[in-house]
Amino acid sequence: KLPAPTSAPHVVITAGPTREALDPVRYLSNHSSGKMGYALAAEAAAQGARVTLISGPVNLPTPHGVERIDVETAAQMHHEALTLAPHAGLFIGCAAVADYRAASAAEHKIKKTDDSDTLTLTLVKNPDIIADVSALPTDQRPFVVGFAAETQDVARYAEDKLTRKGLDMIVANDVSQQGLGFGSDNNAALLLWRSATGTSQREAPPQPKTQLAALIIRHALSLLPSQRPS
Ligand code: C5P
Repeated sequence: KLPAPTSAPHVVITAGPTREALDPVRYLSNHSSGKMGYALAAEAAAQGARVTLISGPVNLPTPHGVERIDVETAAQMHHEALTLAPHAGLFIGCAAVADYRAASAAEHKIKKTDDSDTLTLTLVKNPDIIADVSALPTDQRPFVVGFAAETQDVARYAEDKLTRKGLDMIVANDVSQQGLGFGSDNNAALLLWRSATGTSQREAPPQPKTQLAALIIRHALSLLPSQRPS
């Protein structure tokens, strides 16, 4: 295998769900398939970049030429992301990170009891991985691309997320549309990015995730201010 051209940035991508243990046999998670993040990793590698994929538990093969680090929890994903991001040129947060985890995972299997019909779990907030990458000092900060899954007012909520998380670009999609997004092979998106005039946007119509991934990678790479050595 030929090494990636030296001008290509190191691209770090988070993908898939995270899994937060409740006890030794149960966890909190979500339906993220990881397909979009894996398609982005495959595409970035095909476009000549060195790619590291930080992946939650998914049923997908590692794309050709991509280095993969497997994690389960948001805390593990956060640790790997904050270790790699300061040396990367482009960071893409595509993972569906669990917003909360159990305050403490039970050491033994939680037992069903006869005296109550309810069970209360105490959850604590997980770190916001992409916001922490965005907050890295300027000389360590990669170009940061996030994703936003919305069910209404896609542009407005995405722009708000772009600002609140301090991102450079966001890929927003309407997850209420049948046959698109979560678990599907197709996706449509609105790309928003910071420009000299404020926020610019571009609409990407419904298309296979592989094709959309190529568009997103090309677009993000074209916006990189300068390619820092990786
Ligand atoms: O706030 P929300 O989860 O909608 O934001 C989605 C974006 O933030 C995605 O890019 C996702 O990967 C990232 N994210 C993260 N860490 C979290 C929550 C979301 O990196 N704890």
